[in-house]
Amino acid sequence: MFTPRPIGFVRSPYQETSAVPRGLGAQHQAEGVLEILREFEPGLQDIEGFSHLYVFWVFDRSEGYELVGQAPTDDRPHGVFATRSPRRPNPLALTVVELLRRDGASLHVRGVDMLDGTPILDIKPYLSSIPMEKLRRGWLAEAEERRAQQKRD
Ligand SMILES: C[S@@+](CC[C@H](N)C(=O)[O-])C[C@H]1O[C@@H](n2cnc3c(N)ncnc32)[C@H](O)[C@@H]1O
Repeated sequence: MFTPRPIGFVRSPYQETSAVPRGLGAQHQAEGVLEILREFEPGLQDIEGFSHLYVFWVFDRSEGYELVGQAPTDDRPHGVFATRSPRRPNPLALTVVELLRRDGASLHVRGVDMLDGTPILDIKPYLSSIPMEKLRRGWLAEAEERRAQQKRD
């Protein structure tokens, strides 16, 4: 198909996976920098106007995959394509970050959940046209409801 190559690397406060917040209700507020390689810098023209970005990246420190497994957000198994697990057939990841500022080829962002040094494959402006009331959150909503019920009991 094609051989992916990094357009840059993430500078993140996280050195190991255990440091990244996970589980139900985890907040991703950590700040980081998307350091884009000089040769790709012209491609950042006009990116400053967008508040949020999609960042496509590689789980470069993940090994193998599991088609059905347990997510940290639930005690029941789910198919890998119904989760955001790092252990997937193609180790591709997608994170929405808030763009704080651009400094040349460096994009300062909030909301990183990647490890320091993670390769970035692509960046696109975040645009969502799906109204909140049309979104369904599948097993995640059910897991949250069970958790809330347990707290009430
Ligand atoms: C649940 S995944 C979600 C990633 C992305 N937001 C997505 O939805 O595709 C996030 C986890 O991936 C792991 N992770 C982060 N950077 C990684 C890397 N470079 N290689 C392997 N695992 C990584 C961390 O444990 C982090 O908690």
